Amino acid sequence: MTIYEGKDYKEICEKAAELIASEIRMNPRAVLGLSTGSTPIGVYDRLVEWYEKGQLDFSKVTTINLDEYKGLGAEHEQGYRFFMNQYLFDRVNIDKSRTFVPDGTEMDSDKACCEYEEIIEEKGRIDLQLLGLGANGHIGFNEPGDVFIPDTHCVRLTESTVEANSRFFRSKEEVPKEAYSMGIKGIMQARHIILLASGKQKAQALYEAVYGDITPGVPASILKLHPHTAVFADEEALSVIK
Ligand code: F6R
Repeated sequence: MTIYEGKDYKEICEKAAELIASEIRMNPRAVLGLSTGSTPIGVYDRLVEWYEKGQLDFSKVTTINLDEYKGLGAEHEQGYRFFMNQYLFDRVNIDKSRTFVPDGTEMDSDKACCEYEEIIEEKGRIDLQLLGLGANGHIGFNEPGDVFIPDTHCVRLTESTVEANSRFFRSKEEVPKEAYSMGIKGIMQARHIILLASGKQKAQALYEAVYGDITPGVPASILKLHPHTAVFADEEALSVIK
């Protein structure tokens, strides 16, 4: 795990975007693992900027997203497929048939998860996985628990995640209580991982992930076992570590 400190959110997004852009330039058929939430928005904005300047070509890129709320379809403004279209896919020349997000409209959890796992296996190893960090240490929607769950699974979201994500909904009651998430195996099999953390609310989780035991109680702690994980964190996110 290598930690890069940026002075603020803008700087860490710039650094992460540079790595992703380099991956695409060196490997136009790259398989990117992508995440949603507030944190990666600045990264996607930079990638779009470079695409608009003619410096990046997404036409052969494949993307596999980490997660989706169970019950939300592509048209739902808080759904993650909607998010990805809004912040990245509709703004660059990606072929949408090569973009994958778990199917939130499939209410049969086993079916939704098996189908997504098949997609992950079929696409092969992810070349570069972009992760955000939950304030409770989650990655994707792999919530703190007793075991690391390897495959795509249906998650009962923790109270703290529902609370944290309620800022995107009109009320806490509207936040779906379940989600489909890529498992730890899909994430850990990626060749390279970028973990982005910004803000004070991530400081404790980042500290535990970096310095604590490797435990499913802090899912991000498993990243210590990955040979190529780069953490990009701003001063606030590093405030407990320093
Ligand atoms: C979303 C995801 C989550 C978020 C995490 C941080 O696809 O995988 O793990 O990365 O909840 O969310 P933000 O960036 O909104 O603080």
